[in-house]
Amino acid sequence: MKACSKMAIGKASQHDIPGLVEVCRQSFSHSIRWRWGPKAMARRWWSSAIGSDAAETWVSKEDGRVSAFCVLITDEECWAAEEKQREYQAILIGLRFLAFARARWCAIRREAAGSETSSGNKAAESHNHRCKRHKRTWIGLIAVARQMRGRGLAKDLLKVCVDRTAELGHEAIKLRVDRENRPARRLYESAGFVCTSEKGSQCIYTRVCDSRERPPDAAVSGSN
Ligand SMILES: CC(C)(COP(=O)(O)OP(=O)(O)OC[C@H]1O[C@@H](n2cnc3c(N)ncnc32)[C@H](O)[C@@H]1OP(=O)(O)O)[C@@H](O)C(=O)NCCC(=O)NCCS
Repeated sequence: MKACSKMAIGKASQHDIPGLVEVCRQSFSHSIRWRWGPKAMARRWWSSAIGSDAAETWVSKEDGRVSAFCVLITDEECWAAEEKQREYQAILIGLRFLAFARARWCAIRREAAGSETSSGNKAAESHNHRCKRHKRTWIGLIAVARQMRGRGLAKDLLKVCVDRTAELGHEAIKLRVDRENRPARRLYESAGFVCTSEKGSQCIYTRVCDSRERPPDAAVSGSN
């Protein structure tokens, strides 16, 4: 772990999942996955993301508590394939939830009248994906706990991601942001990102990374 602004930044582990889910619930208030969906779905997403070889999750902690995080996608093709599987799993969880609700409803009705119901399971298929090496990384997700905002935590996490991108030998780091998300756009611009294209309601920001610019002590724990 590396101390930044009195915080410790390091790679996330499965123990951090409850904290990550909480920061997401506070930060993405319009999202079904993060705000309105069952917590089990969000936990499963994080478990898969933390275990992924296509991304690194960096967390900023104070007294062991997750205050902020950033997901750095290092292999965008593999990540996209994994996202499809995660969405499939989310649908399965939703179906199981509906099946459970239906079974409960039928049981209540059975008590009153007397009827029968059953529910089924599906096994998830696993796929092998061919992964190409890309010359860029992506910021997949970044958020800071509401009470910890405005203290430079997001900027510190972005710096870790920029350093990692250079360390991995990639040339640039990119991200998508909603055009109306002014705090996030300010953050990216202040961290040296430039809006390189606009598509619909989204802007794509890019920062070129030069490994020669990286200071020799920039490595942080957990990097490999
Ligand atoms: C966007 C977000 C990650 C910023 O986190 P943060 O830790 O408060 O940001 P920092 O303290 O590191 O600030 C970095 C820069 O952004 C600016 N900034 C941050 N929040 C701002 C706000 N609400 N209004 C204006 N500028 C803001 C800061 O002034 C600072 O600029 P400076 O270095 O020139 O002084 C945080 O507000 C958040 O979690 N938002 C909800 C989730 C989200 O929108 N994520 C981005 C999705 S793409």
